Amino acid sequence: MDRVLAIETSCDDTSVAVVDRSGWVHSVVSASQDLAHEPYGGIVPEIASRNHSMALIPLIEEALKKAQMTWNDIEGIAVTNRPGLIGALIVGLVTAKSLAQAKKIPFIGVNHLEGHLLAPFLRDAQYSPPQDFDYPYVGLAISGGHTSLYHILGTGEYQVLGATKDDAAGEVFDKFAKMLGLGFPGGVRVDRESLGGNPQAYEFPRSMINDDSFDMSFSGLKSAGQRMLEQLGPEEVKRNLSDLCASFQEAIVDVLIAKLEKAAKQYKSKRVILTGGVSANTRLRSRAQEWAQKKGYKLVIPPLRYCTDNAAMIGYVGVLRLNRGEFSNIDLGPSPRSLPQDFRSLK
Ligand code: KG4
Ligand code: ZN
Repeated sequence: MDRVLAIETSCDDTSVAVVDRSGWVHSVVSASQDLAHEPYGGIVPEIASRNHSMALIPLIEEALKKAQMTWNDIEGIAVTNRPGLIGALIVGLVTAKSLAQAKKIPFIGVNHLEGHLLAPFLRDAQYSPPQDFDYPYVGLAISGGHTSLYHILGTGEYQVLGATKDDAAGEVFDKFAKMLGLGFPGGVRVDRESLGGNPQAYEFPRSMINDDSFDMSFSGLKSAGQRMLEQLGPEEVKRNLSDLCASFQEAIVDVLIAKLEKAAKQYKSKRVILTGGVSANTRLRSRAQEWAQKKGYKLVIPPLRYCTDNAAMIGYVGVLRLNRGEFSNIDLGPSPRSLPQDFRSLK
């Protein structure tokens, strides 16, 4: 099997792609729902489902058209069925199943996080991954819902080394932006405000940075951010917005790089990846690249379009798995969490 059509509706982006078994992205088209959720300062699940149901079919048609293909060229369907918002997942899953039945082709339910872990190996006319980057490697998947560190031993073989004990890094970026009145989604706005700011201007906690485990914690930072804004008052916050954002961001970046280095050292891996929405962060990308160069690590971070949620990464996982003879049954359901067999834990 070569080409699959992929559908991603696990959160607030509707995305469809056509991908082949080499990871080549023939097309990827997405509809952002940012404007629909912005008035609420966060994702409203019911609104997400409703918008997916309106956007999905036109995007499928657009993805095929952009790939210059018809259904006759598509040999399978990949769809995110876990983890995510249940109502949002259902829209993609039911559509994928219906199409698979109608077109008489196999389909497979994909774990969204596995998509993020393989996103660095997508390719297109502007991006190709390094050729000699092989298994095993250490990876940090950082998004709005997850912040987890993995030892990646092969396709489908992922060991979870550690994860955030409370809030995900992206969630904390979003909450801090909301406190500052920067709007939603917040990560990219804090990133933008930080440019030119002094990352050492304000002191924020770096919880668990020297902890023995690979786990992380960001809720203390969120509370510290809130306290800092209250102490400073609106005028001073406004005057020092760039310094505040840069300092807050630096605390997250420090923790992420420290944990990545700890895992790379312990697992004697010279190869590391950063992936997920937060890996789009300008400061994290430059600090990680500097770190890798200095310490002799080979680091891969996908281009921005494959860091944030997209169906291309789901298609790549799907086509690899379908080629191994794995496919899903028509009674497959959505799941808000990963399944026990998706990832191995250390314990
Ligand atoms: O992977 P993703 O697109 O969706 C989830 O699976 O959650 O990640 C979304 C998260 C949001 O919290 C968003 O604020 C954050 O990634 N994000 C960023 C940046 N771009 C997106 N955080 C910091 N800096 C950015 N440039
Ligand atoms: Zn994601």
